[in-house]
Amino acid sequence: MTQPKRYLITSALPYANGPKHIGHLAGAYLPADIYVRYLRAKKEEVVYVCGSDEHGAAITIQAMKEKTTPRAIVDKYHALLKENMHDLGISFDIYHRTTEPIHHETAKEFFTALHDKGDLEKKETEQYYDEEAKTFLADRYIIGTCPVCGNHSAYGDQCEKCGTSLSPEQLINPRSTLSGHAPVMKLTTHWYLPLNRHEDFLRQWILEDHAADWKANVIGQCKGWIEAGLQPRAVTRDLDWGVAVPHEKGKVLYVWFDAPIGYISATKQWAINNGKDWRPYWEDEGTKLVHFIGKDNIVFHCIIFPVMLKLHGNILPENVPSNEFMNLEGDKMSTSRGWSIEMEEYINDFIKKENGGGMMVDALRYYLTAIAPETKDSEFTWKGFQDALNSELVAIFGNFVNRTFVLMHKLCNGKVPPLTESILDETDKKLLADILACKVSVEKNLEAYRFREALFEVIDLSRKGNKYMQEKEPWILAKETDEKGLPVVAAQQRINNCLHICLQLNANLSILINPFLPFTARKMCNMMKVVEKMLDWENAGKKNLLSTGYSLRAPELLFRKMEDEEVTAQIEKLKIKSKKIMEESNQESAKPIAETPVQKAIIEFDDFAKVELKTGTILNAEKVEKADKLLKLEVDLGTEKRVIVSGIALHYQPEQVIGQQVVVVTNLAPRKMRGIESNGMILMAEDASGKLQFVQAGGEANNGSTVN
Ligand code: 2FM
Ligand code: ZN
Repeated sequence: MTQPKRYLITSALPYANGPKHIGHLAGAYLPADIYVRYLRAKKEEVVYVCGSDEHGAAITIQAMKEKTTPRAIVDKYHALLKENMHDLGISFDIYHRTTEPIHHETAKEFFTALHDKGDLEKKETEQYYDEEAKTFLADRYIIGTCPVCGNHSAYGDQCEKCGTSLSPEQLINPRSTLSGHAPVMKLTTHWYLPLNRHEDFLRQWILEDHAADWKANVIGQCKGWIEAGLQPRAVTRDLDWGVAVPHEKGKVLYVWFDAPIGYISATKQWAINNGKDWRPYWEDEGTKLVHFIGKDNIVFHCIIFPVMLKLHGNILPENVPSNEFMNLEGDKMSTSRGWSIEMEEYINDFIKKENGGGMMVDALRYYLTAIAPETKDSEFTWKGFQDALNSELVAIFGNFVNRTFVLMHKLCNGKVPPLTESILDETDKKLLADILACKVSVEKNLEAYRFREALFEVIDLSRKGNKYMQEKEPWILAKETDEKGLPVVAAQQRINNCLHICLQLNANLSILINPFLPFTARKMCNMMKVVEKMLDWENAGKKNLLSTGYSLRAPELLFRKMEDEEVTAQIEKLKIKSKKIMEESNQESAKPIAETPVQKAIIEFDDFAKVELKTGTILNAEKVEKADKLLKLEVDLGTEKRVIVSGIALHYQPEQVIGQQVVVVTNLAPRKMRGIESNGMILMAEDASGKLQFVQAGGEANNGSTVN
């Protein structure tokens, strides 16, 4: 696109069902905030919207757990999230809520518009119903035994123990979380968004038009979804908490239909608050819309919401920079298992204690950006945090700023010394050129959403500052004194040049670091006695930001070191918290630090030998009626043919799998799914993004060969 007229930046709306951890912060909020602060410094027209996602089963289930109402839950956690984000320097222009009337109106209008144009389909399906609670059950309300790992508390949409995504029909011994009883199947009617009608558009828009500028992880996931064949997605639910479906009793919009519309309603509210027009932000092609999200939200922001936006006549996102996940001390970060650092915890342990100033806010922002899971999962460790803080922020960046100010006070009377151009040498010129080069490269990286690299460039520039100072040794020059004990003129000129250049570099560093570490940048402005306006991006690269003769303040401490005891205490705290939560909720304890995250318990050979695995070929495949995720397969096992029901329909169309060689667990007890008896299980490999691939014997293995 040509130079955008305005930017609309969004961060995924967090569910207001509990505190959020620093992995969430690193995924969807911090990078967006860095990007927005950069755009604001460039004087671009930019609006940054977010808010709490206050609907869906995530909320009603939490209300059940806390024995209160959904309204009380969202009020409590909305306030908490809003405050946490603010404390961590996330600078939304508005932090809205999806329970606001303006959101309900906007979402209803959206649904009605699509409905009236014939863009939705009405379908009757069977769904689990709790006869005692007299209600249909959302997937999350059904628990049962996971068919993959045997976990007795797997949810109807996912087993949190082994990570497999499931449909309620796949659970063994399903039971309702409302009454505890086995649910029954009952007919219900819902509205569907027929994504299948938009496959060509998505293929072109994502896989062709954006193949080069979207991140590889995002393109990869989208490709998987599109290639697997898109299905109609239900956009309504039988629930009583949510945005009421117009003209339908007892149904609400599916939370994933209304939540992204929350970006629009937040923009509307922002416009009202600021006397602006919201429409150009969603209707004018000159707007650059960018959604910052975590990888579990890719399908919603890249496939479903864009289809909705296109049908509704809105602009489409220009990019959807999605991060992978951040693990913690050798295991998956998870609030429910207590293996997490909640934003609130960090704020209480580090930020509230230091009496404002933002030192530890910036320390966290620094480390989370330095280890951002931009292309693959990354890992937060307290030791890593300590190292980053002590040996990068304190020892490199902070050290350069500090010694510049100390020496300037000692050797130049606390004033910006003059620069004598005629004696500039190659080392001086090189450092001045490096400042400009750094600006260019930070810009390039930020505009390509490479925040880690951009930050490294800034730190590297401060490292060059240290090296320069070390080479120039102004403290040695100061010893070249005349008979009165004053430095000789030539030496003082060289001292002045060195500190003049170092001070201009300081000013530049404050501008360049500002998007990442806003509190630090402001402290530096205070030390230099300049107004915040100096942080405007256009000033970066300039060599005369501080005027000669200007007196500056004494240095302030920008960062403090983290002690070994703090690291030990945090690790201990994490272990205790996790153990307690696991015991309370009867879950299996999080794995200890440094153990491989996904490894299951060791089993004896005899246990493994009980499993009979054989090769086969799929002869026939058909969709199972009223079950989005299931395919009924007929498999040739050499000596016999078997019917197997497999949960792969979201990944493969029936015609794609006919002729496919497979490996089958042939001695699994038969099980009925949707009234069909399934006799065995097809082995599939599932990668971290949830993509499924057939496990094959390879070569020319005959059907019925034993796999050992
Ligand atoms: O995954 C989540 O936490 C969702 N609440 C994200 C919603 S993003 C957007 F669509 F609102
Ligand atoms: Zn499982």
